[in-house]
Amino acid sequence: MFPTNFKERREKLLNTLTDAIAIIPGATHVTKSHDTEYPFRQNSNFKYLTGFNEPDSILVLTSYPDKKSILFVREKDPFMEMWSGRRMGPDKALEILEVDETYTVEKFPEMIEKLLLGHEKLYMDLFDEPKTFAMVRDICKKLYHRKKTRASSPPKNFFHVNPLIEKMRLVKDQNEIQFMKTAMIATNKAHRAAMALAAPGRNEKEINALMQYLFTKDLSQGNAYDNIIASGDNANILHYIENNAELKDGDLLLIDAGSELNLYATDITRTFPVNGKFTTVQAEVYEIVLEAQKTAISHAWIGRTLKEVHEHTCRVLTQGLIDLKVLKGSVDENIETAAFRKYYPHGTGHWLGLDVHDQNPYQTDEYEETKFEDGVIFTVEPGLYFPKSDATLPEHLRGIGIRIEDNILITQNGHENLSAMIPKEIKEIEEACAKDYKEFLL
Ligand code: GLY
Ligand code: MN
Ligand code: MN
Repeated sequence: MFPTNFKERREKLLNTLTDAIAIIPGATHVTKSHDTEYPFRQNSNFKYLTGFNEPDSILVLTSYPDKKSILFVREKDPFMEMWSGRRMGPDKALEILEVDETYTVEKFPEMIEKLLLGHEKLYMDLFDEPKTFAMVRDICKKLYHRKKTRASSPPKNFFHVNPLIEKMRLVKDQNEIQFMKTAMIATNKAHRAAMALAAPGRNEKEINALMQYLFTKDLSQGNAYDNIIASGDNANILHYIENNAELKDGDLLLIDAGSELNLYATDITRTFPVNGKFTTVQAEVYEIVLEAQKTAISHAWIGRTLKEVHEHTCRVLTQGLIDLKVLKGSVDENIETAAFRKYYPHGTGHWLGLDVHDQNPYQTDEYEETKFEDGVIFTVEPGLYFPKSDATLPEHLRGIGIRIEDNILITQNGHENLSAMIPKEIKEIEEACAKDYKEFLL
């Protein structure tokens, strides 16, 4: 593995900007309550361009008079560092991060007045950085009234910078792929351990705690998103995160949980029986979802699209719903009326990377579907959801919720399933459920 070349990424972005300045703030701490904060999470676009993980930083890319990367970071402060952690400071940041200039973030308002001048265009996050955007816009307004020459003019045209970076993030490089493969080692172990630990009388909480332990114990750095540990009817709540119900004999357990490394996510769902053995009806529904998932993955080739993958998935699931006597009529009719959506209300996949729902374009600038190319990574996650409360369903199906989710890398020759090692066939799952969870603790 080589160090990621953040400088090259910044240069690539700068080369797409003419007469433009880009301002990309990092994230700041978010208050949880009173004087406690949520764990710090860096802004993904900022992280992608700098690799820097400290709060309250701002990256500025200029093209006039010179192409430059300028980074504003927190000042060194021994007193604050004693209370809340080390800071790199501008001098070390200049040495380590390969930017052209660094300053303390306190200097930003003063410096940006100078840096804006001579640029026709300003690129920023126009929607989710209201404070910094308002500050920069007000500075532009003040400068606009004083302009006399190009060199004393601020930008008059404001553009949203995010799509430019998110387009760059679509195709993953070897390091990014390796981060996700490494995170997948812990994700695999945690899903296997969960299968082994689950039993009637245990609690979703215990499964959650064990998975969290395995997500942080080795190379991974925690969960990429809130774990979903959903037993029985809880699986029919798509974003169930309470994770505190007792596991019941005869129920299924749906787990949607993935570890992350260097903010690169894995996003994996497996569904298995709490007592280790699928019932006939559970197995019947499971096999439909599994067939839909395998069909979906079989369309993972260069040139295909997520929309095509979704359409193929919906056809298999709809046929399954007809076979289960949940839907009447033909596949075409049920696709046409979208009747299947009552039981399969979400999409089949999303891009995956620095964000679990990676912010990469789903369409081109011409509003065409983004085609798969070598190095894109996405999820394939069909499911069927039969809530207990739905009296229109055959009774034996009520309370079953199943999803199966893998992470797929497109390659020159087809694809690589990054989560292929996590049990998915019924036989494999039942074998994994029969293991002793203690073997995963070491
Ligand atoms: N875990 C969120 C998702 O599957 O999209
Ligand atoms: Mn998921
Ligand atoms: Mn997903």
